[in-house]
Amino acid sequence: MSASTSASPARDPRTAIGLAFEQAIVTSLGDEYAGADPLIRNTANPELGDFQCNAAMGLAKRVGQPPRELAQKLVEVVDLDGLAEPPEIAGPGFINIRLKSEALTSSLIQMDDPELGVEASDDPRPIVIDLCGVNVAKQMHVGHLRSTIIGDALARVLERRGRKVLRENHLGDWGLPIAMVLHTLRANGTDLDTLTLTELDVAYRDAQARARGDAKGLEAARTRHSGPHRIAELEAQQSGADEARAAASDTLVALQQGDEELVQDWNKLIDVTMQAVYEALDLLNVQMGPDNNRGESFYRDKLQPVIDHFEKTSLCRTDDGALVVDFEDRKRPLLIRKRDGGFLYATSDLAALRHRTQETGASRCIYVVDARQRDHFRDIFDAARLAHWDRTPDDHDVQLVHVPFGSIMGPDKKPLKTRSGTNLTLASLLAEAIERGTSEVASRSENPSAPTHGLDAEAIGAIGRAVGIGAVKYADLSNDLVRDYVFDMDRMIAFEGDTGPYLQYAHARICSLLEKAGESDLGSAAIQLGDPSERQLALVLLRYGSTVADVAQSLEPHRLCGFLHELAETFSSFYQACPVLKAPDDQTRRSRLRLCDLARRVLEDGLGLLGIEAPTRM
Ligand code: ARG
Repeated sequence: MSASTSASPARDPRTAIGLAFEQAIVTSLGDEYAGADPLIRNTANPELGDFQCNAAMGLAKRVGQPPRELAQKLVEVVDLDGLAEPPEIAGPGFINIRLKSEALTSSLIQMDDPELGVEASDDPRPIVIDLCGVNVAKQMHVGHLRSTIIGDALARVLERRGRKVLRENHLGDWGLPIAMVLHTLRANGTDLDTLTLTELDVAYRDAQARARGDAKGLEAARTRHSGPHRIAELEAQQSGADEARAAASDTLVALQQGDEELVQDWNKLIDVTMQAVYEALDLLNVQMGPDNNRGESFYRDKLQPVIDHFEKTSLCRTDDGALVVDFEDRKRPLLIRKRDGGFLYATSDLAALRHRTQETGASRCIYVVDARQRDHFRDIFDAARLAHWDRTPDDHDVQLVHVPFGSIMGPDKKPLKTRSGTNLTLASLLAEAIERGTSEVASRSENPSAPTHGLDAEAIGAIGRAVGIGAVKYADLSNDLVRDYVFDMDRMIAFEGDTGPYLQYAHARICSLLEKAGESDLGSAAIQLGDPSERQLALVLLRYGSTVADVAQSLEPHRLCGFLHELAETFSSFYQACPVLKAPDDQTRRSRLRLCDLARRVLEDGLGLLGIEAPTRM
C-alpha cells in the first residue's frame, strides 16, 4: 500500500495553513463563521513571505470591526503548529506568512514517494464517464475528438485519485438514421464486406438527403429551441419523401424484431465504423476498446420500461398523441415518445442514466458532450430526478454532471475544414499533427548536440508522434472547456509558450540533466532550500496533490495544465539561478538534483493525467 493511503496523508502546507486560519476565524468570531473562506493566496513578492491570508478584509464589514484589528485577533489565536514563522500584518490587514524552512523541507520529503502528494479517495463507488459517443456509419469528427480527449483526461485524474471509473462510449448505433442507411445500402446492392468508412459516410448523406424533411416541421422545432438531435430526428420523421421514410421505418421495425440478415448487416456497419474509431483511439493513446461500448442499441429493450415507469408514476402526459414530461420551471416539455410510438435520443439517454445509477451504483455520472446539448442534458437530468434515478438503490445521491465543451474553429473562426474545404475528419487531423510533430523532432535532431541526434527513424517517429498528439491534446485541455478555440497547429506545436511540447521539452531536458549527473539514490539526499528560487520551486511542487484533487472535483483540466506550466517556468527560473551539475559543493549538488528529479516526476505524472506522453529525449 502506498504512503498516501495511510492514516495521515501528506498535505501541502498551503492547505494546512488554510485550515489553521479557518479554525482561527471560528475561535475568534464564533461558530457562525465556520466555513468562511480564509482566502489564502501566494504572495506576489516572496520577500514578504510565502502566503498571505486576506480574510480580515472580507470579514471586517460583516463583523463590524476594522480589518487590521481583526487581523490582529486572528494572528493571536492561529495555531500554525511549527509550520510557519509568526505571521506579520501589513497594509490594511493582510497577514503575511512565511513557512519555516524545516516545515517546507519535511513536506517536500513527505511528498517524495510514488504518490507525489496525491491523496487517494477511499470511496469504492464507481464514477461513470460518458465520452466519445461516435455515431455509426459516420466519420468521427473533431467534436468526438474533444469528448474523447477531455473524458479520458478526467478519467485518468479520477483514477489517479483511486476511483474506479467506467468509461462508457454511448454510440449512436440505433434508430431511424441507421435504418435509413442500412436500407439504402441494401437497396443499392452494396457489398458490405468490402465497404469503407468513406463509402459508408457517403451512403449516410445520401440516405439523409433522400428522406429530407419538410421545412415547416424543422422551422417549428427550431422556434421551440429543440436540441440538434431532435431537429435531425424531425428531418427524417417529417420527411416529404414518404417512400424513403416508409422503407426506412420498415427496416427499423425488422431490425428491432431481430431479423437475422439485417442484424448481421447492421453489425457490419458497426465494424466498419469502429475499426476507424479504434485506430484513432490508439493514436490518441486512449484506453478504450469494445468493452467500453454501450451504445443506444444496448438500451433498446430498456426503453419501454422507462416509458412504463413514467406513465405509472404519472410523470408524463399525452400531448397530441406523443408522450411528454413537464417541468415546473419551464414551458418546453421533454418528448419521450413520438406520436407514431417511436422512441428518441432522449429516451435512450433516460434508459442509460437509469442503468448507470440503478445498476452500477455510481456516485457520479459525468457526460462529456458538446455544449450544444446543454438543454438536452438539463431535461434528462431533471426528468431523472423526477423519477428518483438520481439516488442509488442503497440510497446514495448521484451527482449528474454535464461537462460541456465548445467547438474547434478554423483560422476563419468558422467550424474547422480541410484545405480543400471539406469537413475535417479526425483521422486527417491526427495524421497532420503526427507529421508536424515528427518533422519538428527530426529537424532538431540534426543538431549534433541534441539528445536525439543519431536516433533512427523509428525512434524519431515515436517521439514525433508523442509531440504531435501531445500538442493537440494540450491545446484542447488548456482552455476553459466551454470556450470555442481556434485550431492553430503552428502555435500548438511550438516548443515555447503555453503548449504541450513546451512541457514535454522541459521534462526531457531534466531527463538529460539527470542522465549527465549519473547520480543514484537521490531520495537519500538532504534537501536544502537556501536560494529563493529553490524555495519557490518547492512551494509549487507541494501544490501538485491539491491541484489534482481540485481537478477531480471541478472537472476542469485546464487547472492542471496551468499548474504544470507554472511548474515548468518555475523550474526554469530555478535552473537559471542555481547551477546544478556545477553546484558549489557536493551536498548542494545532490540536493538540487533531488529537486530536479522531483520536478521531473511531477511533470511526467501530470502529463500522464492529461493523457500526454513524456519522452525522455527531445
Ligand atoms: N452520439 C452523440 C452525438 O454525436 C453523442 C452521445 C453523447 N452521449 C450521450 N449519452 N448522449 O452527438
